[in-house]
Amino acid sequence: MLTYFIVLVVACLTALMVPYDWAAVWDAMLRSLGASNAPVRMITKSELSKYNGEVNRPGLYVAVLGQVFDVNKGRKHYGPGGGYHFFSGKDASRAFVTGDFTEAGLTDDVSDLSPSQIVALYDWLTFYQKDYTPVGRAEGYFYSADGEPTEALRQVEVALEQGLQLKAQAQAHSVQYPPCNTEWSSAGGRVWCSTQSGGVKREWVGVPRKLFSPGSSRSRCVCLQQELSRSDNPNLQEYSGCPAEAESCFVREH
Ligand code: HEM
Repeated sequence: MLTYFIVLVVACLTALMVPYDWAAVWDAMLRSLGASNAPVRMITKSELSKYNGEVNRPGLYVAVLGQVFDVNKGRKHYGPGGGYHFFSGKDASRAFVTGDFTEAGLTDDVSDLSPSQIVALYDWLTFYQKDYTPVGRAEGYFYSADGEPTEALRQVEVALEQGLQLKAQAQAHSVQYPPCNTEWSSAGGRVWCSTQSGGVKREWVGVPRKLFSPGSSRSRCVCLQQELSRSDNPNLQEYSGCPAEAESCFVREH
């Protein structure tokens, strides 16, 4: 009995001596018990930098848009030697969408990103929320020391709204004008429509047309429903030498 007791005490002491992120474990336990009013842990930049998964460091964290996640289960990606180790111990939100993994690029300053890039950044945030345990908020660019959203975060949220609207418009546009299938060789090319061209599944096939962006001489091939093919939209043009009703056209130039 005494032997078991000694083994147990030694095991506990050994576990406690292993550097681990006990604060995060405790926090996760509280949350799983439904103690959601546990105060949000604020993490300073310098504290966050310690969580880079290296030996004798307290853990492995990644922050996106000021939200900090324990990514220890993704150690093969974020730990030392992992392909994405440069994301650990910091908030490098900008690099998630620019792919600029230089020291200058690994920053939380996202003020120059476009609304569409902000949408892509929120997709990453959603990914981390689904796959990893949140442990707190990074103090600085997106959250103040008392956990309040900063003006920078408010601007990001405005850009997100704009980006989502643009995305919805683009989706509606591609349902109305799905892209054609295309193939090109040195002799020329072929553009044609099918019920899945452009990745837009539909019941109609449509006929290929050139769609010009307003004020531009550049066009791209879109499929237009037969009933609308006589449309007087000035930005739509038939391919020369291709019958108006043809679902497939041979073309000389892009
Ligand atoms: C902006 C550019 C990119 C960013 C920010 C990025 C980011 C990431 C991150 C954060 C992970 C880890 C995900 C996790 O926690 O499970 C990951 C995984 C991965 N990435 Fe990338 N990536 C980029 C581009 C690429 C490209 C261009 C390729 C391939 C040519 C690629 C291939 C992979 C692969 C194969 C995995 C591992 C998937 C797995 O084993 O579960 N990534 N990427």
